Amino acid sequence: MQKKKKKPTPNTATTFQEEPPIKLKPHHENVNEQIEGYTKDLKRYISRERFAHSLEVAKLSKKIAEFYTYENIENAYIAGLLHDVAKDMSFEEHLNLANKYSYKYSLSELDSPATLHAPIGRLLAQHQFGIENPEILLAIAHHTTGRPNMCLLEKIVYLADIVDAGKKVEHALRVKKLVYSDLDAALCLTAKETIRNLLDRDKIICEKSLECYNFYNKLLQERAS
Ligand SMILES: [Fe+2]
Ligand SMILES: [Fe+2]
Repeated sequence: MQKKKKKPTPNTATTFQEEPPIKLKPHHENVNEQIEGYTKDLKRYISRERFAHSLEVAKLSKKIAEFYTYENIENAYIAGLLHDVAKDMSFEEHLNLANKYSYKYSLSELDSPATLHAPIGRLLAQHQFGIENPEILLAIAHHTTGRPNMCLLEKIVYLADIVDAGKKVEHALRVKKLVYSDLDAALCLTAKETIRNLLDRDKIICEKSLECYNFYNKLLQERAS
């Protein structure tokens, strides 16, 4: 019989802030070398299959970023590349890293542990890869649940992740069509289908996913009226 996971109580550390301070690193002299280094290091964290997915999400993020004339397409590539850096770790490893880097996870995140790899990935990107750019960190942190009022790079990585899922995710094709015509509609559709999928499987829905859906649903309704 499988041993039931003991649910920890949320930690009370407060040093990690949800919104990182705006401290943009000066543009690296050779960003390609930097990306090569991240790519090499990433292989130590994830499976070969996940690595292939990460490369695809990086390329897609760059493509969507170019389409929307995002100011730094290399950052879009880096965010896509590292978005799943913590995905192959266990729940226990996630909790250990949260404690190590004083991340104050919520009860809602504990109830939907599949979402934890996103904020933990952000911690790894920050502390182990040395990423300081706040938009890259936010994009990694919210690529699973989304959140209300995302910045352009958060939207790009959130959607690139779904588009790369292809046939594995029913709504991926519809999202792919919308991505280049209406980013917010693509977001709303993704948030809605993610929630629907969780409901169908009797899973608990993370608050951030609901907040994300409500925010973009309202935005589309206001836009239409
Ligand atoms: Fe992910
Ligand atoms: Fe992913």
